Amino acid sequence: MEYLSHSEAETESIGEALGKRLHPGTVLAYRGDLGMGKTAFTRGLARGLGCTGRVTSPTFTIVNEYEGQIPLFHFDMYRLPDSDALFDIGWEDYLGRDGVCAVEWSERVGDALPEDTVWVSIARHPESDDWRIITVEGVNVF
Ligand SMILES: Nc1ncnc2c1ncn2[C@@H]1O[C@H](COP(=O)(O)OP(=O)(O)OP(=O)(O)O)[C@@H](O)[C@H]1O
Ligand SMILES: [Mg+2]
Repeated sequence: MEYLSHSEAETESIGEALGKRLHPGTVLAYRGDLGMGKTAFTRGLARGLGCTGRVTSPTFTIVNEYEGQIPLFHFDMYRLPDSDALFDIGWEDYLGRDGVCAVEWSERVGDALPEDTVWVSIARHPESDDWRIITVEGVNVF
């Protein structure tokens, strides 16, 4: 399904609504350029999953963990040196931990994503720099 966001807050709300629909064990993978709002979306996602803690970008840490009704593991693969590093951060363990894994720059780890990954694409709308077209594959958010 495709959604139009006019602001960062609206992107968060769409993320929150999706979070309420996800089950433990889901992997969510983003497609979208720098600054499109992947981290903003994840902030809402965390709320929807009932997670506590302030969501910040895991750019340098690769992964941030949030406790909640359903735990959130938020990855940013932008600075992942190579696919061996995925093993080092314990990717396989995260997949088995009954949380939701949300993965920014997932194209860098394409082979490691499960078959039933939920894809979320965020692209700029031609009308305005602040508008985004958000496409969620396979799940009805609202
Ligand atoms: N509709 C919108 N949705 C989300 N963010 C928006 C929107 N309009 C403007 N913005 C701005 O775009 C930026 C999005 O930043 P964010 O860190 O969430 O992007 P990102 O996709 O995670 O980038 P990166 O690839 O660098 O991690 C913020 O500065 C935010 O204020
Ligand atoms: Mg980000």
